[in-house]
Amino acid sequence: MTTKFYQSSNVCIILTGASRGFGQSLANIFASHYRNQFSSNRMDDGNLQFLLISRDRTKLEHVSNSLKSIDPDHINVHCIEADLSKSGSISSIEECCKQMKIFERSDSTRKHYILIHNAGSLGETNRWCKAINVEQAKERDDYYRLNLYSVMELTGIFIRQTESMLSTMISRHIINISSLAAIQPFNGLIDYCVGKSAREAYFRQLSHELSQDLPNKSIHILNYAPGPLKTEMFSELQTNSLISDQFGAVIPLSPEESGEKLFKILCKNKYDNGSHVDYYDV
Ligand SMILES: NC(=O)c1ccc[n+]([C@@H]2O[C@H](COP(=O)([O-])OP(=O)(O)OC[C@H]3O[C@@H](n4cnc5c(N)ncnc54)[C@H](OP(=O)(O)O)[C@@H]3O)[C@@H](O)[C@H]2O)c1
Repeated sequence: MTTKFYQSSNVCIILTGASRGFGQSLANIFASHYRNQFSSNRMDDGNLQFLLISRDRTKLEHVSNSLKSIDPDHINVHCIEADLSKSGSISSIEECCKQMKIFERSDSTRKHYILIHNAGSLGETNRWCKAINVEQAKERDDYYRLNLYSVMELTGIFIRQTESMLSTMISRHIINISSLAAIQPFNGLIDYCVGKSAREAYFRQLSHELSQDLPNKSIHILNYAPGPLKTEMFSELQTNSLISDQFGAVIPLSPEESGEKLFKILCKNKYDNGSHVDYYDV
């Protein structure tokens, strides 16, 4: 694939888990780069539309204000409060998109759609495989609804809705925020490892299917493992998990550092579609 990441200054970015941690950094990084890239020329006609998703409206509003302050004339933000571990949340996100005309064919100005699956949770951090039992079934359902099913369902909506706009649209990216845990076991993190691994298997399957599907052939798909990040999630691993000893002395990366690396990878566009790329890869 040879298409450049900066196709247009008319972009829609759908970002889950945008309220804090890595998601918050990604929102700021994308907004700043687009602002810098297009400020001197095309941003005047451009529009960067963010759809930020998480359970916490107050935190989302805070992120929204910081994004709008980067360029109040050209950055629009819509916050969607949704608990992705609950069935029904994806339907309400779809409804919001309809109301906001996010995927309207008549909106011929929007040229690039980016979907970033960043929301995630660790689940139980002290559980061995042999300890799994049926009493935990509801907890497990919620876990995989957030960390796997909602990702698949939102992606389905994204592909179907953008497919109907292909005559006016020039580019689509889907970015799955993955982890080393997708390809390596960690003591105690059974659901986290299985969930991240299954997410990548889904995106490999999708890339394979899309490679045979002419209208959708051009969707760029990346599984990005961001490395250990200075966020609430990593702090929980360091203090309350079976791998606390192993991770206790690790100095995590700043989310900004890893987010910048992701942005560079996207711009360079040298990855194989649907592949796993780690922060530490050369
Ligand atoms: N931190 C690391 O070292 C590390 C390493 C590798 C990969 N990752 C991955 O990077 C991504 C971001 O992690 P992070 O470190 O930024 O984690 P974090 O600080 O715990 O943030 C998680 C984000 O996901 C959202 N979220 C959690 N449960 C949700 C739910 N039920 N419904 C909707 N949103 C929900 C949270 O929003 P609300 O609480 O507002 O709902 C928050 O915005 C995750 O996919 C994680 O697996 C992290």
